[in-house]
Formats: sequence, C-alpha cells, structure tokens
Amino acid sequence: MEYAISGKNVAVLKTDCLILPMDEKTTLLPADLPADSVSQIKQLIKDGDFTGKRNKTFLITQPAGLAAKRLLLVGSGELPLSSGAFLKLVSSAVQAVKSTGSRSAAWSLGDNLMSEQDSLWQVREGTRAVDESLYQFDEHRSKPKPASALNSFTFVAGGSKTGLQEALRQGQAIAAGVTLCRDLGNRPPNFCYPVHLTEQAKALAKQYPQLKVSVISEAQAEKLGMGAFCAVARGSEREGQIIVMEYKGAKGAPVALVGKGVTFDTGGISLKPGAGMDEMKYDMGGAASVLGTVKTVCELALPIHLVAVIAAAENMPDGRASRPGDIVTTLSGQTVEILNTDAEGRLVLCDALTWVQKKHKPHTVIDIATLTGACVVALGSHAQAIYSNDDELGKALLDAGNKTMDRGWPMPLWEDYQEQLDSPFADMANIGGPKAGSVTAACFLARFTKEVKWAHLDIAGTAWVSGGMQKGATGRPVPLLTRYLIDLAGA
Ligand code: BES
Ligand code: MN
Ligand code: ZN
Repeated sequence: MEYAISGKNVAVLKTDCLILPMDEKTTLLPADLPADSVSQIKQLIKDGDFTGKRNKTFLITQPAGLAAKRLLLVGSGELPLSSGAFLKLVSSAVQAVKSTGSRSAAWSLGDNLMSEQDSLWQVREGTRAVDESLYQFDEHRSKPKPASALNSFTFVAGGSKTGLQEALRQGQAIAAGVTLCRDLGNRPPNFCYPVHLTEQAKALAKQYPQLKVSVISEAQAEKLGMGAFCAVARGSEREGQIIVMEYKGAKGAPVALVGKGVTFDTGGISLKPGAGMDEMKYDMGGAASVLGTVKTVCELALPIHLVAVIAAAENMPDGRASRPGDIVTTLSGQTVEILNTDAEGRLVLCDALTWVQKKHKPHTVIDIATLTGACVVALGSHAQAIYSNDDELGKALLDAGNKTMDRGWPMPLWEDYQEQLDSPFADMANIGGPKAGSVTAACFLARFTKEVKWAHLDIAGTAWVSGGMQKGATGRPVPLLTRYLIDLAGA
C-alpha cells in the first residue's frame, strides 16, 4: 500500500474514491467542496438516503463537481469522535471502499471531527487502521483469496500542515510492525516453531544492518544454567532458542524487551483440554510483538538502545518433558517446584529475564506474554494487564496504550500475594492456586526482576481474537510498545 498526504483542494483531487466523514447536520462539509456536491449531499440527507449515523456509508458514483470517481459518505454520528470511534470509522470506510473495487482512495481530514486528537494523530493512527482493515492471512490457502484492489491511500489535509509527513512515516512503520506480529501469530505451529522465530529475527537483521542477532541454543542454555527454560524446551522435538536482538541507535544502557515465545502450548504433561487448543499457537504472541516492535524501531531508525530477547520453546508432553513435582534450578539460582507444567510461560521467561539483566545491564525491562487465562477472566479482550515495580514506568506504558487505543490497565504486585507461591520443597512453586492467577504469575516474575525497573504485560486477552471466521492475531501490543519507545526516544 502506498500512503500519501495531499494538500490539494478536495474538488480537484484525482482518486477512485474520496471518503468524506459526514454528520446529519453537515458540519463536516469541507470548505473547498464545490456547491454542486454540497447540494447533492444535503438532498441525500433530506431524502433520508444518508442519515449520518455512525459507521453507515453511502456511495455516490460520478459525484457532482468532483475530480474523484466516487464519493463515499461515512456517517460520523455525534461529534466530536472519541479515539476509538475514529478508528472504527476508518475501518468501516475501508470495508466499504474495498467493495467498490477502487484502486485508490482519499480520506478528507476535517477540522471538526475530533477534539481529543489532532490531525497528526489522525494520520498516524488512521494509517494503521487502514492497514489493519485490509490485512488478510492466506499463506496456506491453495488459492489465495483475491486481495483488495486498493493500493493507494491519501490523507487530504487542506493546506500544508507541519509534521504530517512524519506522522505518516510513523504510522506506516507501526503498521509494518503490526503486520509482522499478526503474520507470525497466525502462522500455524508446524511452520512457526522456535527456530522459525530465530530465522525471522535473522531476516530482520539482514533487512536492517543496524540490528544484530545472536542465539543461545538449547544446549548452551543448559550449560548456562537456564534450568527453568530448559525444563520446558526439553519436552519438544523442536529445539528451544533464546533469541537476542540488539539495536544500538544510542549510547548508554539499553531498554530491554522480553517476549514469551511458546510456539505451541499443549500444557505439557498437565495437558490442556482439547477444545480450542489450536489457539495455543498464539502463545508466542509476546515474541511476535517483540519482533514487530523491533521492525518498527529499525524502520524509524529510532535513537534508542534496545535489546530484545525472545524465549522460544514448544510446550509438549513427551518422554523427556518435565513432570508435576519436578524441581529445577533457574539461572538466578532460585529453585522452582513445577506443580503444573502448563504454567510454562513464567518458566521460560524467568531465565530470559535473569540473563538479559546480567548480560546487558538494561535501565528498564519490559516482558510481554500471553501468560494466564485468568487475565482474560479479569480484563477480557479490551485491555492488557500492566504490572510494574516502578510507578513511572507503569504510567508511561498506560499512557502509551491510551494514546494508541491499545490500552492496558494497572494490576497489583503486592507482597501479600507472594505467599501463594510458597513451596514445601523449593524456593517457590510455579503456580499460586486458583485465586488471582494473573497476579501470582506476575509475582513469580517479580522475583527475578528485583534489581531493575521492570514491567510485565499479560496479553492473554488481547493478542488474538478467538473463534469462528474472525479468529486471528491482532498485532497487539505493538502499537503500545512502539509508542512507548518513540516517546522514550523523544521523537
Ligand atoms: N498460555 C497459557 C495462558 C493462556 C490460556 C492464554 C488461555 C490465553 C488463553 C499459559 O501457559 C497457561 O496455560 N497458563 C495457565 C496457568 C495455570 C496452570 C496456573 C492457565 O492460565 O490456565
Ligand atoms: Mn500453559
Ligand atoms: Zn502458555
């Protein structure tokens, strides 16, 4: 998709489809819309053909007085629009444009559409919304579904406004990260396994020479003393990998991202029930979001120092798999009694967290994981859970989520929860009982991140959409993470 900004008059803009958000009272009519079109629109409203109801569209072919082939009115409903309503409006419009067969489209940025966000935001997030609505994954169909003809999208800004080009550049880079994240998530687990994630990281390094990739093999992890990571990885024929990407766009201590990359989670010997188990291919959603974020950072050449680590393993029941009751020694030296082999995410993450702190001395560490079903119970699919041992970091992540509508919600890490992890035989157990499952999982990780500013995002409810034909990876939380890093860079 080609994206562009145009300062042209909407009347002379050549496009297959001009999209005009419109309300019933026509307060959104652009000043440069020719009188012919204005009266046409007013007549449609009078006749009740177009109501201005939110997300309802009306297509006018050969619109009066316009160079555009088609004019698509998209109902704005009551004004001004919230951020969430704006993003939905864009995707409703894109769906409608798709069905017209238009190859190019233009979105008229009105001044009165929103009050909480400026046109820079509308271009940046709008670009992402356009991209997200056109996304399809059909790597594995014998005959790919026909892609939409739409290949060019222009934001019409009316006059020159500074910063729009940069907003567009950011929007495109974020969209590319989101797309990578979605593709990896959707890719079936017999294709997307730990070594595949390594290959993806290496492909990024080839595309962006600023990026350096190294890998800790399962055998090396064993030698290093990553007993928790290896306890999970051992149960699979597919080799586990700790993938390390370093991007050095600035001097000084790095910020570190750590992603859970369980490419399939059967539960191990504590086997999951069969229904819906296919969705556990998305258990590498944290890793996918890390790769997507790295792509965006490279694309934007952000002036930051970033270390991104992926703990990649497949959780399988096998002759070598760990058993409930096994005790392992983590890289930190702390021992863990594995009471449930399905609580494997914290096991792969704890060693990666310890390793990145020792090796790279980051100022901040953020891990991202589809960690608990309990998180889905607590927050559903609207917000990811945000845990942090540092209020400022927690707030920065919440802000990044609010700015992008890729929202998170704060959760507690109180000491009171820690005793749920007591084990009669080891330093801790890997499960904390039925209560507050997302919190105790986070409390487990907190035991490995005491010396650093750290946050944990439980994305179990947000990384993918379940069930039916709507099933698929969302690309979350790439928008949140990239926003956080862009803000950190001061860009
Ligand atoms: N990957 C799952 C968490 C998950 C489950 C995410 C369903 C999204 C939907 C994780 O490895 C897991 O199995 N967690 C267990 C922990 C429990 C055994 C303490 C869970 O949530 O049931
Ligand atoms: Mn599990
Ligand atoms: Zn899992």
